[in-house]
Amino acid sequence: MLGLERQHRVLEELLARHQVALIERRSADATRLFGEYAAGLTRHIEFEERHLLPRCDLLEGPRWSDTVYRAEHRRIEGLMLGTAERLRRAGPAQISSLMLIALLDAERTFKHPVEHHHTREEQPSFAELRHARAPIGAARAERTASGTDS
Ligand SMILES: [Fe+2]
Ligand SMILES: [Fe+2]
Repeated sequence: MLGLERQHRVLEELLARHQVALIERRSADATRLFGEYAAGLTRHIEFEERHLLPRCDLLEGPRWSDTVYRAEHRRIEGLMLGTAERLRRAGPAQISSLMLIALLDAERTFKHPVEHHHTREEQPSFAELRHARAPIGAARAERTASGTDS
């Protein structure tokens, strides 16, 4: 599994490639790339919620509650579904300039909250979760997932 920051960069790169395809009016590529992005972001959120967020209570001092991150994930998922639906409605036909502007404007309302969320997760307090003592079940699942369990 890639590190958290690397996962964020890979996702951002996929979203950028999707938007380049949109601008170049390559509708099928744009739709495919957004699909890859959405699948990757969904896996990423599942990873965080299964392996990192259960450790929030183990850190000392005032921290963001895991419920804040989970609420942001639900919001991001909702915005992502809205973006996928707008792309689906645009269809495979040639995208007009007006439609392109509307799609990019709509994607900005999705892209900015995700960037803000990633930035907060890259702060030291969140990064500490990877090193916090994991709940037994989560630690075992992570070792199994990484192939280090014996
Ligand atoms: Fe997250
Ligand atoms: Fe993340």
